[in-house]
Amino acid sequence: MEIIITHDYQEMSKVSSQIIAREIKRKHDSILGLATGDTPVGTYKELAKLHKTEGLDFSKITTFNLDEYVGLAPLHKNSYNYFMQENLFKHININQSMVYVPQGRTDDPEEFSAWYEQKIKDAGGIDFQVLGIGGDGHIGFNEPGSSFASRTRVKALYRQTIKDNARFFDREEDVPRFAITMGLGTILEAKKILLIASGKNKAEVCAQFIEGPVTSQITASALQLHSYVTVVLDEEAASKLTRKEYYNWVKNNKKLVQKKIGR
Ligand code: PGA
Repeated sequence: MEIIITHDYQEMSKVSSQIIAREIKRKHDSILGLATGDTPVGTYKELAKLHKTEGLDFSKITTFNLDEYVGLAPLHKNSYNYFMQENLFKHININQSMVYVPQGRTDDPEEFSAWYEQKIKDAGGIDFQVLGIGGDGHIGFNEPGSSFASRTRVKALYRQTIKDNARFFDREEDVPRFAITMGLGTILEAKKILLIASGKNKAEVCAQFIEGPVTSQITASALQLHSYVTVVLDEEAASKLTRKEYYNWVKNNKKLVQKKIGR
């Protein structure tokens, strides 16, 4: 894993948007996996800015979102479909027919999940996956105990996730108890992965998934099994890492490192 420690949320957003933009320029028809939550809002703002000021072109990009709450219609203000439209899609030149967000209002989640997996496969697989991390260590809604082989499916939300996400709803009771989420197996098949994290409430869980053991109790630790992961953190989220000096040395000597290891 490449660990990039940035000063604050703003710099984290800038750096991560540049990494995504580089991928889009490298492959104009990239298949992107996208995340929701507070963390990527700044990154998406920066991407919209790059589209406006530099003409970053999304017209051939396909996107697959990680997850959606079960029971919420696409236009519900708390749905992740709505989040994506508001925070990214309506600000860029994406082709709406190439945008996929799991359907929270399906009668048959199992059938839908199989269809979603097949769509990803038909598109040629995810080139570049963006992730946040939950307070319980989840990626997507892969809550503690999720199988590393899991595919898109319905998952019951963990108590802490319901508490964490209550801030988006009027009342905690309104937070849906279930979500459809890509599985860890789905995520691990992406060719490249970028995880972003910010704030001191993520410090403990970032130390656990980066430097702790691989465990289904902190599902982001599954990323240790992937060969191309970049983590962009701000100082607060990185505050409990024990090998910061090493990560910073690699970052500050990037040219030398690239020459030696080609990345
Ligand atoms: P957040 O959520 O960005 O709102 O902290 C992250 C997540 O749950 O994946």
